[in-house]
Amino acid sequence: MFQLQKNVNLQALSTFHLPAQAAFYGELTDEKQLPEICALPEFNQQTVLWLGGGSNVLFLDDFPYLIIKLANKGIREIARENGKVLIQAAAGEVWHDFVQHTLSLGLSGLENLSLIPGTVGASPVQNIGAYGVEVKDRIHSIRCFDLEKQTFIKLSNADCAFAYRDSFFKRAGKKRYVIVAVTFVLDETFVANIRYGDVAKVLAEQVGEREITAQDVANAVCSIRRNKLPNPNEIGNVGSFYHNPIVSREQADALLQTFPEMPHYPLADGRVKLAAGWLIDQCGLKGKSIGGAAVHEKQALILINKNNQASAADLIALSDYVVQTVAQRFAVTLQPEPNWLPE
Ligand code: EPU
Repeated sequence: MFQLQKNVNLQALSTFHLPAQAAFYGELTDEKQLPEICALPEFNQQTVLWLGGGSNVLFLDDFPYLIIKLANKGIREIARENGKVLIQAAAGEVWHDFVQHTLSLGLSGLENLSLIPGTVGASPVQNIGAYGVEVKDRIHSIRCFDLEKQTFIKLSNADCAFAYRDSFFKRAGKKRYVIVAVTFVLDETFVANIRYGDVAKVLAEQVGEREITAQDVANAVCSIRRNKLPNPNEIGNVGSFYHNPIVSREQADALLQTFPEMPHYPLADGRVKLAAGWLIDQCGLKGKSIGGAAVHEKQALILINKNNQASAADLIALSDYVVQTVAQRFAVTLQPEPNWLPE
């Protein structure tokens, strides 16, 4: 029988470590448990929270409903043809461990996404991305449980409507599909993608003249991230706290007149992506704190739980302050990236 616990402390189950409790909590270790979970009296399709690694959620108050943590494990090869390999991983696999596993199998394609916190099952939801790669570039298909039809289905990459930090699972598919496994398409032959930021420079320092491998790129990405981003096991955080804002070409041009050095990335649709971290940094907010919540000293895009004593009120006040300060200076509205719960 599927076991639920009552009044479970959520501090260790989310990487920002805010104090909160879940009314009911259970861990799914096998996708076959899903029909049984849906039949529980505590289950409600609209209020249940399907939790991964807790690295993109903020529990601002006690969660009065059921939480199911996806903790199913398993990695297997599905097919191999013409240098491409399909690998399926269960939703509960830890993302970074999975990336390392694919590298140990001699497969490349995920190395730029090393050390991103969270689980495999959460990776498509906000289409995680870093250092010039988005997970959508490597997703073949997704196995889901359809809560309405109570059956398992396969969604193709195109079905998922991936965009920058966005997918079908945040929109039409929200509250209907539970991701139970993801199939990735990886390469037997490594082709480096090291144009982003400092990757090439750090690689050159670490590797020298020798020919680089996918593991080298992973190691370089890990060094860059460890340098800039706080380890959530030590200092609570949810990675980037805001999306990088996307503005019109006209607005970007007007801002560039005043701030010619502003980082900006033109998109295929004509709009322009700005760097939220730069905007916050320019407002002098690195290190700004309210109670236990603070803007990270090394990367302004990250809000931290300084001594793991921050309250939800501290964090909300700090985020409101950051959003207002950036809006006043640049007329750009930052959108927080994590899910604020309960909704
Ligand atoms: N910048 C500053 N000051 C700061 C932070 C950034 O001036 O405090 C400038 C940088 O110098 C650079 C630009 O802003 O010119 C962009 O910074 P960076 O390359 O560090 O990346 P980011 O835009 O801050 C995004 C992702 C990260 C991902 C990195 C690397 C988003 C919201 N964030 O950050 O993702 O690791 O690129 O690809 O798109 C995450 O989502 O949790 C995350 C960490």
